[in-house]
Amino acid sequence: MESRLKLLFPAEKIHLTVDRLAHEIMRDYADKAPILIGILKGSCIFLLDLIRALKMSVEIDFIGAESYGDGNVSSGNVRITKDIDANIENRDVLIVEDIVDTGLTVYVIIKHLKARNPASLKLCALIDKHIHKKLPVKIDYPGFSVKEGFLVGYGLDYNEKYRHLPEIYIMEEG
Ligand code: IMP
Ligand code: MG
Repeated sequence: MESRLKLLFPAEKIHLTVDRLAHEIMRDYADKAPILIGILKGSCIFLLDLIRALKMSVEIDFIGAESYGDGNVSSGNVRITKDIDANIENRDVLIVEDIVDTGLTVYVIIKHLKARNPASLKLCALIDKHIHKKLPVKIDYPGFSVKEGFLVGYGLDYNEKYRHLPEIYIMEEG
């Protein structure tokens, strides 16, 4: 199956949004020492740009989760494939995600991390596919809001392809 990529967010626009999110986070965590937890693997490029835009010292950790098998349709269940290494008890935790689609992935991860008794737990997501959301997940720091379409680039993949692209594209079949 051939797929075509249509440009949605150029690199410059992504960087402006990352800067805006960084400023909001800096404002809210000014007197705190947060730990940012990236959801593997899609959020990696976003997380690394975000921490460089944050003019403050933060810790990072990663959690692995899979909600998609092969292809672009959610399988409806989430498996944690790698747990965090840090002790987050009494810490200010900020989850960093690439896309919130149905909300299932972050819902499961929020539940998983809440059980470790962090002092606070918030969510930053570069893209909010708000129409698909099935679960009550609050995105404290949303980047872009997108109605529909399967997106690739800037860390987002389709079967592990296209993560390296500096821009974000909508994938069109045919
Ligand atoms: P959710 O559990 O349905 O919210 O799906 C979230 C996860 O699915 C994200 O962590 C992404 O890895 C992946 N995902 C959802 N939509 C897209 C997309 O448009 N492109 C690439 N990955 C996506
Ligand atoms: Mg993901």
